[in-house]
Amino acid sequence: MAPKIILTGFMATGKSAVARTLAKRLGWRHFDCDVEIVKRAGMPIPEIFRDAGEAHFRALEREVIAAIADDRRRCPQCGGARPAVIATGGGAIVDPCNFTVLHRAGVIIGLTARPDVIARRVGRSAKSRPMLAEGGKPLMVRITELMEARREAYARADLTIDTSGLNLEQVVDAILEALTARRYNAWRLSA
Ligand code: S3P
Repeated sequence: MAPKIILTGFMATGKSAVARTLAKRLGWRHFDCDVEIVKRAGMPIPEIFRDAGEAHFRALEREVIAAIADDRRRCPQCGGARPAVIATGGGAIVDPCNFTVLHRAGVIIGLTARPDVIARRVGRSAKSRPMLAEGGKPLMVRITELMEARREAYARADLTIDTSGLNLEQVVDAILEALTARRYNAWRLSA
């Protein structure tokens, strides 16, 4: 399997920041699916949802994930597959097609957090998160129902880290420890 670490999980579990920090720690490349979607669409995520709807956003998300996961470029020095850390958006893995592509590409790490922790981290940005603003429900109600609806999808991750009481560096440490314990150390995780 190519050395690719894929981060999934609910909004505000820290996927993007953890992916950046983890990639830096390992000296690997780093991709953020939401950033790539925004580049492709030429507009921010709330505008994609507002102007073209969720279905269009999900279509862009599938394209971006397929392109990132199918990175067959080789390292010019050693000829091996180029390692990468990939942050996906919170709804990406719900799509079975995305799950299949990502599962084939590398190891999938699910980040979780308690609903109250998510609500606190999201704070005022809740209004600019289309999947939370939808329906105009109280934040905790919406977080809980969406988390429940996605429970099975997130459970398909290869391993899961609860980030509720952890800071960024502690999450990165926990991921590296969990991968090492599962014998992914052939990926030179201590770089
Ligand atoms: C979404 C999560 C967002 C973004 C979009 C949809 C979701 O990403 O992809 O707003 O469906 O949970 P983050 O999880 O990085 O916030």
